Amino acid sequence: MTTFVPKAAVPQPQGKGIISFSHTNVPRHIAIIMDGNGRWANAHGLPRSAGHQAGETALMDTIAGAIEAGVTHLSVYAFSTENWKRSPSEVRFLMGYSREVLRRRRDELNKWGVRIRWSGRTPRLWRSVIKELQEAEALTRHNREFTLVMCVNYGGRAELADAMERIGERIEAGELKAKAITEQTIARHLYIPDLPEVDLLIRTSGEQRISNFLLWQCAYSELMYVPEPWPEFDRHTLWRCIENYGARDRRFGGAVDTVATATSDT
Ligand code: IPE
Ligand code: IPE
Ligand code: MG
Repeated sequence: MTTFVPKAAVPQPQGKGIISFSHTNVPRHIAIIMDGNGRWANAHGLPRSAGHQAGETALMDTIAGAIEAGVTHLSVYAFSTENWKRSPSEVRFLMGYSREVLRRRRDELNKWGVRIRWSGRTPRLWRSVIKELQEAEALTRHNREFTLVMCVNYGGRAELADAMERIGERIEAGELKAKAITEQTIARHLYIPDLPEVDLLIRTSGEQRISNFLLWQCAYSELMYVPEPWPEFDRHTLWRCIENYGARDRRFGGAVDTVATATSDT
């Protein structure tokens, strides 16, 4: 059982008492598919936009909880390369709201010691959103302990295609030989090359799919699907996931570490 000493700058949960949970190991990098805003809003008789707005509180509480738990990287899926298929009014709302949240929350996040980074594609993304993302990156670039990756206009296939394009350009320029391409070459050409692999991928709202999120980085991540829609997620839900993660046995393709499982071909 670990009792966390709350970090001074990070706000504490309201009325939930001492912060403690048992765990054996905390994932270094957690990725979250923040899903279910629309269904949550619908269930409350509200427009979809109100569901996205309710997700802001969930995000801030989850970031605070991740910092307290000792997670170092949190990647959140805010807008996918496929989300352009939504109605023009929802796309407009999501773009405007992302811009507003970044502007409104960046100082607070900076005080918490959060380094904000953007992962995603430039084409189609509103210029004003890119500007807010870049300003948040510049403001928080000195923070070292915790990184929040905002995945906006992000797609796992788009990221790999963009990496291949840059590798192809280097081959054309004579800087690289096709034969010299390794997994490390590809990793070095991703949007954030120094981002560690994802240890734990959480998706809210009960859907059990990856939906094109961090395809390369999730090769060996533990998958966790929780029933709560994103607006109902908070640090306590996150800590439950971290506890569950601590009980899992990650093998990365290796053998189960016990004699009892030996079979006749050994
Ligand atoms: C996730 O919630 C937010 C985004 C994809 C931007 P949804 O908007 O997908 O909510 P559901 O899945 O329709 O309930
Ligand atoms: C994934 O959710 C994208 C984000 C959370 C930003 P979607 O709601 O877009 O995914 P699908 O369509 O259910 O697979
Ligand atoms: Mg959805």
